[in-house]
This record gives sequence, structure tokens and C-alpha cells, in this order.
Amino acid sequence: MEQELLNLFQSIKNDSTGLILSAESLNELNEIKLDFLGKSGRFTAAMKDLSKIPAEKRPEIGRLANEVKVSIEELIAQQEKKLGAKTASVGVSSIDVTMPGTLPPQGHLHLITQAIEEISTIFQHIGFTHVRYPEVEWDWYAFGGLNFPENHPARDDVETFFIDAKVHAENGRMLLTPHTSSGQIREMRKGKLPIRMLNIAKCYRRQSDVSHSPMFHQFEGLVVNKNISIANLKGVLDYFVKSYFGVNRKSRIRPYHFQFTEPSFEVDISCGVCNGRGCKLCKGGWLELGGAGMVHPNVLRAGGLDPKNYTGFAFGWGVERVMMMKQGLSVPDLRMLYSTDLRFLRQF
Ligand code: DAH
Repeated sequence: MEQELLNLFQSIKNDSTGLILSAESLNELNEIKLDFLGKSGRFTAAMKDLSKIPAEKRPEIGRLANEVKVSIEELIAQQEKKLGAKTASVGVSSIDVTMPGTLPPQGHLHLITQAIEEISTIFQHIGFTHVRYPEVEWDWYAFGGLNFPENHPARDDVETFFIDAKVHAENGRMLLTPHTSSGQIREMRKGKLPIRMLNIAKCYRRQSDVSHSPMFHQFEGLVVNKNISIANLKGVLDYFVKSYFGVNRKSRIRPYHFQFTEPSFEVDISCGVCNGRGCKLCKGGWLELGGAGMVHPNVLRAGGLDPKNYTGFAFGWGVERVMMMKQGLSVPDLRMLYSTDLRFLRQF
């Protein structure tokens, strides 16, 4: 009887060791623990037999039993650690079903997608419709119809990606849109007035360095109606600047030149760091946002509208630029924004 019990404890130790070492999951390990040390486990049953042994023999077998138990517990704890358990919970032999589960890691929309959504919502509130037009486009929509002369440098291969395709008799060569302004002609040609469009799209230019990428995003606003004036443009600029950058920010317009607007402006916003007083960041209180202007009569004509009846304003700004200005983000290389490096993207 005593010998049998000694053998039994020995085989419990051998069997459990083999099983524990080959367990592949914490669940499996937990089951093994129950099979040996649980209420009706093999070790627990053997301990009950121990009480039937004559008292003088008990200490010897008891010592072995104790050794076996400690070795099973230690081995389980070791294996638990190995299998990734944070704490080795020796002796706790049930699964707590009320514990919160492990959530799969959650990602988020890309920084640029977030900015596009935010910008388009702001303009939606004042009646702008988010539209999209082809990014593979005819020269006419990107340049010709926008009042660019034949020999304008932007039309050069050095600036624009031209596609080797048949040259269209009226529309010219095919290209990748170098700006979202091509959407202006397409929108006017739809013939539905008044126009309040926001064209957000990818743009392509032959440029690649730390502050330029061959592909980037712009958002282009166009408003055409009867009696549209610079005052309307200024109102929309102020509204956007306050909604996107914050109520304390102001906008201003300065004379500039674009082919497709007359008069043309460069739009600035007051610096958020010094509130327009002037600091190291802004040098003079203002930061440059992008271009705007009153739609050139030639452009209205190209869009099929009579400049005697209609006027309009337009603006076109870089999504990356306004987003980085808002976030106070300065990246050592703009092209990082388009990389798939999660160490960079996870920060936002
Ligand atoms: N298309 C111009 C560019 O890419 C930006 C621009 C300037 C758009 C003035 C406009 C505008 O609509 O009125 O540099």
C-alpha cells in the first residue's frame, strides 16, 4: 500500500511534467493544472489515500507528496511565463469570464484623410458641395481653359507629367492634374448655377525633395453667381480660417498674380504663436496659406458662362500645408507623410 502510493506520487510527477512542458496555450495549461491539483485532480485524490496510511509511514510519503506538489506548481508557473502570462497565478484554477477581453489593436484614418474630412465638413456647412474630377486630364482643363498661354512654364515637361497618348484636336495633350483648378472648368461646363464647389484631389508635379512630393493634395473652392464680389471671398476665407485654425485667427489678402484670376491674391493667416504681433516663426505676424482670386473673365468664357452676367471667386490650397500649419507639425521630410512607416503615423 505504501509502496503503491509512493509509486503513484512518482508517476503523477512524471506524467504532469511531460504534459506541462508540452502545453501550447494558457488554456491547455490551466486544464492540466485542474487535472492534477483541482478538487478531483489526480494529486488531490492521492492525498486522500495518504490519510489511510499508518501514521508512522505518513511523514516519508508526505514529504514526497509535498515535493511533487511544489514541483508541479513551479513548473506550471515557469510555463505560464513562457506562454506569455503576465503573472504566474499559482493555485488559481479558474478562468475569470468577467475579465475584459483583449481588444485587437485599433488603427486610425491617415492624417491627410482626417484633414480632408474636416475641411470638407467645414465647407459643407456653408453650402459647398464636395466634388471630384479626373486626375488624368486634358491640357485644356488644366491650362488652356484657365488662361495659361501656350508657352507658360507650368506647361513644360519639367513641371508637369504628360502622358504619351494621342493629342486631342481641341483639348490638347493628356496629363496628370498639376492642380485642382482644372475642376473649375469642368464644374462650370456642367451648366448648373449657382456654383459652390469644393474639389479635393491629388495633384502631380515633377518635384521631389524634403518639402515637395510628386503627389500631393489640394482643395479648390469655386463660387460663381450673380454679383459675387471680393467681400464674399473674404467672408468665406475668414469663416474657414476661424473654423479650421481657431476663432482667434484672422485672414488677410495681398495682391498677387495667377493666370486664371483677376485680381489675384495670396491669402495669409495670423500667426497662432504670437497672435499677429510678429515672432521667429512667422517673421511679421502672418503665415502664408495659399492662392485665391476673382475668376478671370476668360475662364468664365471657357466654362461657357458670360462674364457680363456672372462673377465668381476661387481659391486653391494644399491639404498637407494647412494640416501641418494647424498641427504645428514640422516634418524633416514631407515624403514621410506618404510612407507606410507606422512609427511615424502612430503618433497622430
Ligand atoms: N492652382 C494654384 C496652384 O496650384 C492655386 C490657386 C491659386 C488656385 C489661386 C485658385 C486660385 O483657385 O484662385 O498653385
